[in-house]
Amino acid sequence: MSNSLFRTKNIDKILKDAAIQEESGHGGSGLKRVLTLKDLTFFGIAAILGAGSFSSLGEACFRGGPGVIILFIICAVACGFTALCYAEFASRIPVAGSAYTYAYASFGEMFAWIIGWALIMEYSIGNIYVAFSWSDYFVSFLHKVGVNMPDYLTCSYTEAHKAVLAHSTNLSLINAWNSAPVIGGLKIIFCLPAIVINILITMLVYIGVKESRNFSNAMVILKLAVVVLVILVGAFYIDPANWHPINDAGIHAFMPNGFSGVMMAVSGVFFAYIGFDAVSVMAEESKNPQRDLPKGMILSLVICTVIYILLTLVLTGVLPYKQFEDVGDPLSRIFEVKGIGWMQFLVSICAVVAMTSVLLVFQMGQPRIWMSMSRDGLLPPVFQKIHKKFQTPSFATIVTGLIVGVPILFTDKEFVLDFTSIGTLFAFVLVCGGVLLIPRKQKVAGKFNIPYISSKFIFPLLVIGAAITLFASNKNYFSDLTIINSANASLNVSTIILWIVLAILSVAGFVKDLSLIPLLGLSTCLYLLTGMTAINWEWFACWLVLGLVVYFMYGYRKSKLAKRGSNYTL
Ligand code: ALA
Repeated sequence: MSNSLFRTKNIDKILKDAAIQEESGHGGSGLKRVLTLKDLTFFGIAAILGAGSFSSLGEACFRGGPGVIILFIICAVACGFTALCYAEFASRIPVAGSAYTYAYASFGEMFAWIIGWALIMEYSIGNIYVAFSWSDYFVSFLHKVGVNMPDYLTCSYTEAHKAVLAHSTNLSLINAWNSAPVIGGLKIIFCLPAIVINILITMLVYIGVKESRNFSNAMVILKLAVVVLVILVGAFYIDPANWHPINDAGIHAFMPNGFSGVMMAVSGVFFAYIGFDAVSVMAEESKNPQRDLPKGMILSLVICTVIYILLTLVLTGVLPYKQFEDVGDPLSRIFEVKGIGWMQFLVSICAVVAMTSVLLVFQMGQPRIWMSMSRDGLLPPVFQKIHKKFQTPSFATIVTGLIVGVPILFTDKEFVLDFTSIGTLFAFVLVCGGVLLIPRKQKVAGKFNIPYISSKFIFPLLVIGAAITLFASNKNYFSDLTIINSANASLNVSTIILWIVLAILSVAGFVKDLSLIPLLGLSTCLYLLTGMTAINWEWFACWLVLGLVVYFMYGYRKSKLAKRGSNYTL
């Protein structure tokens, strides 16, 4: 019996297990292989285009100004490299489980568990943010058709409480607090639309993937059409002067709050990209996962990247960036300000549709990850239970619904946005690192392989080049990093750690001749992590500790890998 925390699953063994399940007379895992390349690409777009573009883009434009485009490009590069790593893994381990399964084959069981735990933040906690944003647009849509819900049923308790404490000018939040009924001394304030949509989505996912797929494809076509319309119509109202707005110091600048202002938008911008990786979770429902998973992921990412850049150009071109402060519906706001009522109305409806498809994809992804973890003995067997009639992971689907639904009562948008982004970036770092660890001899011809470019000289040169460029543009860049006060502690400490890690990776790349693409994916994701605040890191650390407690109490002891021992070890 292997007791190692780093016991690792063999890739061939993972595939053999999947094949045995396939032949076990229950239709394999019980999941139907119905998804084509088009479905997978649509799935990616369904997951990517949502609350990030319709909602958090407004705050990102306010913080970074037009220069936030640079951050979109950096995030796209980071996600692009990461997508290639996901694609490599997905083509070699085409079973459900996403980054979790990949980590099991590369880093070992404990890291696999940590990834699975971090992915709850991406899939379930991320859906809480989307549900809140969905509610914002839904409530404003209702308002436009003359239906007004009580304010205390349209926001979260913490949001209203924070608004009162901060003497906010947001009247609906203040009114929610003041008008809420009180039961047992507690003000009844909760976001009813977010809870209702979560229940409806859970029911849909429970019924089955085919029905969900049809629903999702229809919504993707609709939202793509509307986003393109926003770009085309918005383009007529662009004032190029808005791309060089005047900042508080009276200077015209593409980045009015400097690059640090741009980096302050990292959670919102990165959130907008989350989702391409969800495609890999659909491996067991894909007709030809070896070929279609990599293509589907990369295609959906490329399409969405182009859309984001154009959308940001339109938003910051139509209105001065400062007008996006606290704007949760930026795409309809530009048309409201310009007095184009029909576009405002159309965008509101489509935002609701767009976010519904994001909710759907993530709500489908989470149970499938748990199913894999349960098969490995890291979660109780009930998580792999497949519904006889609907052929979906029924119990895990209901638990997902609860994990998304219950916190809607206790959290707020800002908190879940940061929490989701840090957890997902962490998972991406491990996926890129994991690709570096897969033995090269296991590469199989005919499957997707990341093009191998030696990092031996290129990577160290890139790192040295970046250091020289930063030093040349600011002679105090490195000395400033050592000045750590409460305002910049998180940024400077994480940047110092980044440079140390880059130096180590340069040496490792040189000595071991590592593959360049995963190394660049790892570095860019680590760079984005430096934008996270200290409070984000604190919450994330608590989450990880909780995950480890659960692992040692259950998974470590029940792990199938531990029981079968050396058969599974590389
Ligand atoms: N990228 C997804 C969204 O923006 C999570 O809603």
